[in-house]
Amino acid sequence: MGTHSFEELEGILAPCGQNHLLRFWNQLSPEQRNQLGDQICSIDWKQVVQWSKTALSDAGSTAIPFDRLTPAKYVPLQPETTADATRLQEARAAGEALLRAGKVACFTVAGGQGTRLGYDAPKGTYCFSPLRNKSLFQYFAEAILRNQEKYATTLPWYIMTSPANHADTIRFFEQNQYFGLLPQNVRFFIQGTLPGFGLDGKALLAAPDSLALFANGHGGTFAALKDSGTLDDLEARGIDYLAYWQVDNPMVTVCDPLFIGLHHLTGSEMSSRCLIKRDAMEKLGHFTLLDGKLMIVEYSDMPKELLEQRDPDGRLTFRPGSPAIHILSRQFIRRLTDGVFALTPHRANKKISFVDEQGTLVQPTAPNGVKLEFFIFDALPLAHNPLILEADRAEEFSAIKNAEGNDSPESCRAALLERTAKWLEQAGVKIPRKADGTPDVTIEISLRRAVCAEDIAELVQKGAIPRSFAPGDQFALD
Ligand code: UTP
Repeated sequence: MGTHSFEELEGILAPCGQNHLLRFWNQLSPEQRNQLGDQICSIDWKQVVQWSKTALSDAGSTAIPFDRLTPAKYVPLQPETTADATRLQEARAAGEALLRAGKVACFTVAGGQGTRLGYDAPKGTYCFSPLRNKSLFQYFAEAILRNQEKYATTLPWYIMTSPANHADTIRFFEQNQYFGLLPQNVRFFIQGTLPGFGLDGKALLAAPDSLALFANGHGGTFAALKDSGTLDDLEARGIDYLAYWQVDNPMVTVCDPLFIGLHHLTGSEMSSRCLIKRDAMEKLGHFTLLDGKLMIVEYSDMPKELLEQRDPDGRLTFRPGSPAIHILSRQFIRRLTDGVFALTPHRANKKISFVDEQGTLVQPTAPNGVKLEFFIFDALPLAHNPLILEADRAEEFSAIKNAEGNDSPESCRAALLERTAKWLEQAGVKIPRKADGTPDVTIEISLRRAVCAEDIAELVQKGAIPRSFAPGDQFALD
């Protein structure tokens, strides 16, 4: 902690119209002054205030020239020609070779607050599985263990946390013996923060001696990878590619050889999976091209006409949406973070607790301010040869965002069960189904044992899974 004087801090804040942050200076102890002073000095106020002004005026989204937007091209999962099929085969083989050679690491962003889920702990510790009540982190850990076995390799796992959930996240892994992973291959690092602003453009105080600071979004990944020394660790371990996913999608194929191989063979610096949107209003970021350059436009920024526009064959024109599954090349992270960092944060309207002029803590019941968040996908246009590969929703995506309804623990359990049932049926297992077509069983097969249809088929062959189930059966394989 440094020592700071009022004059020094006022000199930083006053030119940016933020000297209200020193309102309680005379009441603070020397330690409190130093804490506040350190926070203030760690921020580039000119830059941050300019970002907040842009965010508050919504200039970011209205600046998009929508008439020049076209949908982005993507590689379909079903090859259209023999040449395409050969390319996909070669890519899968290349991906497998990279996995075996230890060139790939796993990367989960887990610094979010999970407000919508209403769960007051790191989201990765949320337990949701039907029979064993496993957490999201356990799901990923088991998938990593199985992939390590499959490819006879080590898959280091990097997890980005925030200052608010870092200690709790590590404690959870310690309490669970890292779910069988070697602790030296699981690395946690903390993302950066940015101050929250009131709607009047003034930064908010969480306490008389502290700014209201928030995690700076998943796009904070790049700076955090560098600042935490993770990038150096990747280099030291000879890792070329990071397989990125978000903590709330337990369906993700954690290291997909096809995706990794295509990324590698294309010479892409950053690649993304895309989902074909379920309907016009599905809330996904849209992969688009602006004057030939890739750009992801948030659902909320897209005009309704574009959301609903259709091709002559009836399909949505802007159909590729983002499930936030990426591959990042180490070289790209280095290149981005060596130069002037070019991402601009987005605005998130939030309820932000703050101390008012009298020093009273106010806990608003409606959004009263904005958080600034970098988005990972804003890096795509900066990447050389960015690649988009279609994802099969039923195989790879079901996010836990809300407590109920769409994208909830319940909808995710249903999607996972449907995937397991499909894999089992492909292996010849009889699964009873209800009148509405959903499986009439509860089955939980650990990802430690099976991460794909081939793994399941092998387990059925070996007799580890029954060949038929009766209505209402429950079955778990650990
Ligand atoms: P979301 O955008 O869904 O945000 O994060 P969230 O904070 O988890 O949930 P809400 O909006 O408060 O309900 C998508 C992914 O990005 C990570 C999250 O942990 C999640 O994996 N994330 C988000 C970060 O790592 N850092 C952030 O600052 C924000």
